[in-house]
Amino acid sequence: MKRGMCPGTFDPVTSGHLDIIERASTLFDELVVAVAYSPDKGGGPLFSIDERCEFIESATSHLTNVSVRPFDTLLIEFAIEVDASVIIKGLRAVTDFEREFQMAQLNYRLSPDIETMFIMAIPEFMYLSSSAVKEIARHGGSVGGLVPEEVQQALARRRAGSR
Ligand code: PNS
Repeated sequence: MKRGMCPGTFDPVTSGHLDIIERASTLFDELVVAVAYSPDKGGGPLFSIDERCEFIESATSHLTNVSVRPFDTLLIEFAIEVDASVIIKGLRAVTDFEREFQMAQLNYRLSPDIETMFIMAIPEFMYLSSSAVKEIARHGGSVGGLVPEEVQQALARRRAGSR
């Protein structure tokens, strides 16, 4: 049984994340999408950990070998806890590389048995990020196609609530 792990903050999950999750799911018997609490990232996540997990659960319900789990520990500790031997990250433009390289090196140092592998984003999603989606939505722009329908609605509700 080969189990992979796809970690991130997913605030919120985007079509780019979902493309990586779907492609990673074909490489493993099981894939755990690990959703980090990340309380300090960018002034704190917009969506709660439960909301972020629910968005991913709905959007991946057709992928029978994918499960979604929140975590608030070191990623490596969580990978060991769920018995995942490979961490899968999406890589977009070169700007991602330095940060991802650093995390992969540190994670290797913490546990050399757990491999980090990268899946390249497809050109359509190369410049897509959760932060860009939130910024577009905050100004009332369309995020159609960039995030699942459920996330679009949640972003619209947040905007309406904050006005
Ligand atoms: O969505 P992101 O910001 O790219 O995800 C980053 C994440 C959650 C994978 C990373 O911050 C992480 O692994 N957090 C858990 C704490 C940890 O293990 N930190 C050390 C990584 S070197």
